[in-house]
Amino acid sequence: MSSSSGSPNEAWGSRIGLILAMAGNAVGLGNFLRFPTQAAANGGGSFMISYFIALLLLGIPLMWIEWGIGRNGGRYRKGHLPGMFAAIWRHPAAKYVGVVGMIVPLCVMIYYTYIESWTAAFAWFSLTKDYWGIETQQGMLDYLRSFQASPANGAPVYHQPWTPYAFFLGTLAINIWVLSKGISGGIEKLAKIGMPILFGLAVVLAIVVLTLPAQPGIDATPWQGLSFIYDPDFSRLDEPGVWLAAAGQIFFTLSVGMGSLAAYASYLSKRDDIALNGIATAATNETVEVVLGGTIAIPAAVTFFGVAGAMAIAQGGSFNLGFATMPVVFQQLPAGNLLGVAWFGLLFFAGITSSVAMLTPIIAFFREEFGWKREHIAWGFGFICLVFGLMHVRWLQYGFLDEWDYWAGTFGLVIVAVLEVVVFVWIFKPENAWKSIHEGADIRIPAVFKFVMTYITPLYLFIILGWWGWTDALPILLNERSAGGGVVTAENIPYITASRAVIVLFTVVFLVLIRIAWKRNKYDDRAGFVEIDQTPEAP
Ligand code: PHE
Repeated sequence: MSSSSGSPNEAWGSRIGLILAMAGNAVGLGNFLRFPTQAAANGGGSFMISYFIALLLLGIPLMWIEWGIGRNGGRYRKGHLPGMFAAIWRHPAAKYVGVVGMIVPLCVMIYYTYIESWTAAFAWFSLTKDYWGIETQQGMLDYLRSFQASPANGAPVYHQPWTPYAFFLGTLAINIWVLSKGISGGIEKLAKIGMPILFGLAVVLAIVVLTLPAQPGIDATPWQGLSFIYDPDFSRLDEPGVWLAAAGQIFFTLSVGMGSLAAYASYLSKRDDIALNGIATAATNETVEVVLGGTIAIPAAVTFFGVAGAMAIAQGGSFNLGFATMPVVFQQLPAGNLLGVAWFGLLFFAGITSSVAMLTPIIAFFREEFGWKREHIAWGFGFICLVFGLMHVRWLQYGFLDEWDYWAGTFGLVIVAVLEVVVFVWIFKPENAWKSIHEGADIRIPAVFKFVMTYITPLYLFIILGWWGWTDALPILLNERSAGGGVVTAENIPYITASRAVIVLFTVVFLVLIRIAWKRNKYDDRAGFVEIDQTPEAP
């Protein structure tokens, strides 16, 4: 059986570069926008309890599992889930099952980059004080909708209709340019620049928010915002919805269940540690999320609108806190426009270090299986992302994006995670998985995690999958409820159907491509792949 089609070996340049890139992958819009919204909408302290349990029993074990799958795939120069699964499970079905590891990150990359482009736009609007004078949240929501070229009836229009397209195009181009530079030359460099900036901006904003004075008429301080999240509260722990939301947040924020961490880990060698690096990545992400992500948006909203006001805002939609509340707050503060640049700039860097990760499995697939050049794949797929991204820009208001966010960004993650655990822990066998995670390791993982990975994590996943399938996925599929919450209107149905059709189309195309790749490289499903020489090339 032939090895990969002569694609050059890539590797991370340094350990610190690897950690920053992995942390960059995990730290994203999820930490600063999704987390505070989920925490506020699901009861603060109750959410946090279920959140930490999900972190321990799902997030951390899956983090190691993904690194393990990825590094194992890297031994055969496989940076994509179809190849990684086939390397472990010597069965003709393995590669096809892995298709979810292509579709999910591709779909999420497309809409995520679009949302990332809003942050770039709003950084610009802050700098130029474009929204200055719109001092109510409803006003800012109208402003956001005007930018998205979907103003509500009778609401003011502030932007040219092409504005969202221009920002999307620019943001996508930067992403693709970074990707075209490769692992150490593109992604790692971006992380080395972007992560310290992100971190610095987040610290500054957290300090600004915590020192906010109480506002006249609102009897609240930023510290009340903190205690809303951090004071343990058992009152809503009997609601399954809180547990599902917490698990969903853990998946999204840690980037598990996408195959993108695995893709990054495939550029490690046998001698590299994954036990310590994996937990370091999770710890960094959690610090940024719980400490910094929790200290900015909610305390700011609570100070200006009270606890009840902040909860109501969060329940209104995932972007309200970030794009409507924060700009209202900034306008009240000295040098507020610069704080706005800091906030949206922070979101932009958080976003871009994640979005580049999502296309990595796709690039790996075409390089390794078809021998195409990285630059060509990057720009080629950039064009595809543009075409499908434009649908999101154009049809945002009809729920086109919500569908992908649900099927790929929420439900899809759990499906990928289930398959990863089954393949890596059950089919590969727990002993091999455990050994593989410890190869080259600097620490030993407490043995209890072996038990957790083998029984608890899969059980937890199956319960979530079943519960979600029944209470969410089915009603959404049947259009009894919309993916974004609320009712499905007759007007939206064609867009929702089209949105799903694209996901199905991607799946079919990739299944065919996988088949072609395996034929063309004459892979023998039962024999497995040939190991590659892992000595990195001289630069
Ligand atoms: N973890 C990222 C966030 O918090 C999102 C992401 C998911 C990135 C999956 C890569 C892969 O925003």
